[in-house]
Amino acid sequence: MTVKIAPSILSADFARLGEEVKAIDDAGCDYIHIDVMDGHFVPNLTFGPPIISCIRSWTDKPFDVHLMIDPAQAYLEEYANAGADIITVHAEADKHLDRSLQVIKGLGKKAGVSLNPATPESVIEYVMDKLDLILVMSVNPGFGGQSFIDSQLDKISRIRKMIGDRPIELEVDGGVNAGTIKSVVDAGADVLVAGSAVFKGDDYAATIGALHDAL
Ligand code: DX5
Ligand code: ZN
Repeated sequence: MTVKIAPSILSADFARLGEEVKAIDDAGCDYIHIDVMDGHFVPNLTFGPPIISCIRSWTDKPFDVHLMIDPAQAYLEEYANAGADIITVHAEADKHLDRSLQVIKGLGKKAGVSLNPATPESVIEYVMDKLDLILVMSVNPGFGGQSFIDSQLDKISRIRKMIGDRPIELEVDGGVNAGTIKSVVDAGADVLVAGSAVFKGDDYAATIGALHDAL
């Protein structure tokens, strides 16, 4: 079973963000997970397109941009221009998910949707054919270092069944570490976000390698 590891730079040293991005690239990560927070959709603020543009030259790995902002639709082009490869919007943000996904595809980027822990998978039933990635939040978004919410395992399994043969990646974000990764992958996830699990240690290659091998 091959899974992708997407370290979240939310837990990186922001004063050395470019170097941190290069370090996780060198350490063997698959995606760079970029958490954009607006202090409105979630109770925390991070960064926006200018900073994403600044770190773009530090790696060729895909930028997996997780937009925890509301509204998001008006800003999609800015994130595409800043260097995003995958743009994920929240199903709970904006009013027109189908249109947001069309805009992302129209910008030539991969389209993702994210669901908060309390949001049922039924909200994506009619947009499945527009999706490249589904991101299940296994913590309430806003902060790194929270504990995995076990109820999300059932949702992951259900979404894996909904995906069927479609080429959609199923990503899980929040509380993923060496102790939880196996149950998440057994439920059907194939992309794992890991923030504190990667950045709290000094040896990123060892941690990313251990996550890859934990299965
Ligand atoms: C939370 C973010 C996550 C967060 C995960 O809102 O979307 O990507 O950084 O952090 P850990 O892996 O520490 O739970
Ligand atoms: Zn995230």
